[in-house]
Amino acid sequence: MKIFPLSFSMLILALVISGQVYASTGANTGANSGAETDTGENPEQDRQALRAYYENLFPGVPADAHKDGIYAIDAPSRAQWQEMEEFPLYEIAVDEGEELFYTPFDTGVTYADCFENEGAVKQLYPHFDEHTSSVVTLEMAINTCRATNKTTALEYGSAELNNLSSYIAFVSRNQKVQVAEPKTAAALAAYKAGKRFYSTRRGHLNFACTSCHIQLAGRKLRAEKLSASLGHVTHFPVYRFKWQEMLSLHQRFAECNSQVGALPFDLQGVEYRNLEYFLSYLSNGMQLNGPATRK
Ligand code: HEC
Repeated sequence: MKIFPLSFSMLILALVISGQVYASTGANTGANSGAETDTGENPEQDRQALRAYYENLFPGVPADAHKDGIYAIDAPSRAQWQEMEEFPLYEIAVDEGEELFYTPFDTGVTYADCFENEGAVKQLYPHFDEHTSSVVTLEMAINTCRATNKTTALEYGSAELNNLSSYIAFVSRNQKVQVAEPKTAAALAAYKAGKRFYSTRRGHLNFACTSCHIQLAGRKLRAEKLSASLGHVTHFPVYRFKWQEMLSLHQRFAECNSQVGALPFDLQGVEYRNLEYFLSYLSNGMQLNGPATRK
């Protein structure tokens, strides 16, 4: 029976479009200022619905192909991007990150002692830590490793931290995003906060993340085509030609907040960590393919 799954996904699709699943709350400032739109959907239903939505929006593009971001749906720029990837400018960051990774702290220990599997651990982040009741990201874990070794924290967004996470992303390639389904009340609350953040309208443009990356995905905004939310977490950090440096996922979040005229939030603050948790859950099962290059 093919009819049932199809009509079920069409129903979900209608919900997505009518904004009940990824509802915009109409609030235009700050985080979490909108009323929660809890439709009773669970994270796994959200993920399936979103995959079905994009498969419907982009016929012939499998949901997992969005790991390549805009290049999954924009053929002309894909060719250009593949050329860029032949001499990938993130290689410098990966090399520098590798050197840092194996440089001992004063304690004689290296990051390799903190991160098993020679650093191929990106698939373990982010995760919800029940003890601290918060989302733990790879960047935080890097700083925790430093703290354990009596070394000062690296600034989030700094070249050193981005180089380290570029190396970890590189050696974690081909693993799959595998965020455990949020089940406890605290984990679900973090997931829902991320989901709410994603659909909250902000800035003088009064746009939510969903406006561009769900409703308008595939359409052009000024000179840029808009990518799907699926796969947004698979390939960071990215080498950005615009800035000529590596950028973390949270730096990209901040850029998109600023683009609509809203104030960015703190890198690695609770808002962006919850957002990363939500987005990562949606990308479950997709291949990790960082670092990458982006315009
Ligand atoms: C006004 C439209 C707009 C809004 C609103 C917007 N973005 Fe973006 N975003 C873009 C554009 C343009 C790009 C670059 C092209 C692309 O990859 O979509 C981008 C890229 C991204 C990327 C990188 C994609 C990649 O493959 O590297 C992420 C992640 C992202 N946005 C997240 C967000 C989040 C989170 C929000 C909400 C805080 C948001 N965006 C809101 C326009 C927008």
